[in-house]
Amino acid sequence: MNTNNSNLRSLAQKRKLAIGTGVSMEPLRDDPSYQQVLMREYNIVTPTYIMKFEALQPQRHHYNFEAADNFVAIAKANQMQVRGHNLVWHHSVPWWLTHEQWTPEELIHILRQHIHTVVGHYRGQLAAWDVVNEAVADQDSAGQRKRDTIWLRGIGPEYVELAFRWAHEADPTVPLFYNDYGGEGLGAKSDAIYAMVKELRQRDVPIHGIGFQMHVSIQNPPKPEDIAANMKRLGELGLQVQVTEMDVKIHDGSGTPEERVAAQTQVYRDILQVCLEAPNCTAFLTWEFADHHSWIPDFFGKPDSPLPFDESYHPKAAYHAMVEVLKIDS
Ligand code: XIL
Repeated sequence: MNTNNSNLRSLAQKRKLAIGTGVSMEPLRDDPSYQQVLMREYNIVTPTYIMKFEALQPQRHHYNFEAADNFVAIAKANQMQVRGHNLVWHHSVPWWLTHEQWTPEELIHILRQHIHTVVGHYRGQLAAWDVVNEAVADQDSAGQRKRDTIWLRGIGPEYVELAFRWAHEADPTVPLFYNDYGGEGLGAKSDAIYAMVKELRQRDVPIHGIGFQMHVSIQNPPKPEDIAANMKRLGELGLQVQVTEMDVKIHDGSGTPEERVAAQTQVYRDILQVCLEAPNCTAFLTWEFADHHSWIPDFFGKPDSPLPFDESYHPKAAYHAMVEVLKIDS
């Protein structure tokens, strides 16, 4: 049983770190055990779906804020911050948008209106917005090549800058993030993200932070020293970094079950430690917190146990390692 002073939330608060998780509406609404662990352990939450484009504007000009408003109200009632996620992505784009041919001017109008409406609706209520999600190509080795998406094809590479400017127009107070995976350590994609956001900053684009999704595996996780170096160079651009969606796949690679658990535990320990040691790492979130709610098995098509709690909401070794890391120097 977690006493008041040995859960993630109270320990992280002492370290002035926001610690949280991605949250889905169904268990938040229907599962008392989920609610109990969530409120006890976390102080910042990100909706995993209900603030995405197709959820908020399922038909053109028809916005559906009910679920997201309920989410924000529950978080506020439990003194939790909310990360908005996300305004521009190549997934969760509504059918009405993807099944029409738009001129660049029309698509610019659609995206500007969506961002102004949504960010304006939550003005002053959120701790962050993931404005643009996953805009950099995976295999990038040529500078800043962007992912081939409806937004790149329909508007051009300037859609990233435009999205940040529109979000800032709608709410000048909310920190605006670029969020991505696969660029947390050092390497071609990390360098491409760095080059893109450095150029945005040089053009005074209102971007305030970078989200490291941190969807990793026990097989070849990013090196802690590389993550620290990446956080440092982004800090030198004046940017915050947040670990926004961490999970650690355990069924890749080799090893006995015990060896896999030990490796997963070490990855959680290492990355939380890196965040605590980086002055510009301001939040640490997993993407859900109990294994049976993880997106990983569906997305990769095979079972996995990537999160700090098991399917009965019992804390795993990864959870205990995170508690121990938070206790050091506190
Ligand atoms: C995932 C959600 O967890 C799923 O429920 C949904 O079906 C698809 O999106 N990177 C992101 C998240 O930024 O929005 C994705 O979340 C996981 C990958």
